[in-house]
Amino acid sequence: TDNQSFKLTKHPSPTSPEKRAALMENPGFGKIFSDHMVTMSWNAEQGWHNGEVKARAPFAIDPAAAVLHYAQEIFEGMKAYRTKDGIALFRPEENARRMAMSAERMAMPAIPEKLFIEAVEALVRADADWIPEGDGSLYIRPFMFSSEPFLGVRPASDYIFCVIASPVGAYFKGGYKAVTVWVSDDYTRAAPGGTGAAKCGGNYAASLIAQAEATRNGCDQVVFLDAVEHRWVEELGGMNVFFVMDDNRLVTPPLGGTILPGITRASIIKLAQEAGLTVEEKPYSFEEWRKDAESGKLREAFACGTAAVVAGIGSVRFKDGSFSIGNSGDGEVTARLRANLVGIQRGSVDDAHGWVHVV
Ligand code: PLP
Ligand code: COI
Repeated sequence: TDNQSFKLTKHPSPTSPEKRAALMENPGFGKIFSDHMVTMSWNAEQGWHNGEVKARAPFAIDPAAAVLHYAQEIFEGMKAYRTKDGIALFRPEENARRMAMSAERMAMPAIPEKLFIEAVEALVRADADWIPEGDGSLYIRPFMFSSEPFLGVRPASDYIFCVIASPVGAYFKGGYKAVTVWVSDDYTRAAPGGTGAAKCGGNYAASLIAQAEATRNGCDQVVFLDAVEHRWVEELGGMNVFFVMDDNRLVTPPLGGTILPGITRASIIKLAQEAGLTVEEKPYSFEEWRKDAESGKLREAFACGTAAVVAGIGSVRFKDGSFSIGNSGDGEVTARLRANLVGIQRGSVDDAHGWVHVV
């Protein structure tokens, strides 16, 4: 595709190759940013207009902009990889679709799928030099917020869509070392009828105190239980969760409106089924989790998402104690599923599903 919808104005003084190389040597996650950004505006009269790729710079927004008061904001997370076939995105149409679902839930205008993908492609092309070699990738963050200056409470009339990019390494400090999770007792993430299935900033704002509690307790991530019975495992702060049982079953909580429909989750389900595992999308309680881990019926557990990829869960802490899973390390099924997924994403495993989108 040509990106006619997005006018390119090159950064007047881009980062030098030497400085860029130094920044990308050990990028961590989400701390350094590429030179450009995409912006596009929406209002009722013009719809989406003024699509541009230009130098990354701060926004000037009115202090009364609705997003600053009522948090009308949604986002996506995806990655660009350097592969033998060129620059690749993984299932970007799924991100486009989820962004549209999030927009609907938050009473925001949808971005046509094609335009969303064009925006991402335009940024990836402009900032291709920022895609790391090797294990790293360029994390892409499309987002949209209400910019209308108005303090009344109703859906805003003006929106800004933006895409930024950040070269990243592993999300967790230990790389693929198994992580430790904290099961939150005091906090829930999303209730039925709420915004749990939307990727809106407010969900994350609400989760931060629980994530901070997890960190304080020496854990990498928080696990949320359902809001109604406070019994069923839902997901982690920024990842979906899977349980590997001793009888060839892979269990994951069902999508019921309170958890994010992860694209990694959907991909893992497919790959696991093809690998001969029986995948059950069914409620799984914290009590079962603990019992199954202690009896050995639960062999492995892992978290998955775009940022984290697939991370084994080695141990679980909660208010009254802790337990470990399997050998507390990265399990065999976890490692196999990850190798398969990462191989497809990076072009070393055959892409039988047409998931890889070469830019
Ligand atoms: N759950 C939450 C709360 C997330 O933030 C994410 C990350 O995007 C996921 C699950 C995994 O979604 P995906 O695999 O589409 O990245
Ligand atoms: C992602 O995986 O893209 C997310 O948004 C999760 C966050 C922890 C970075």
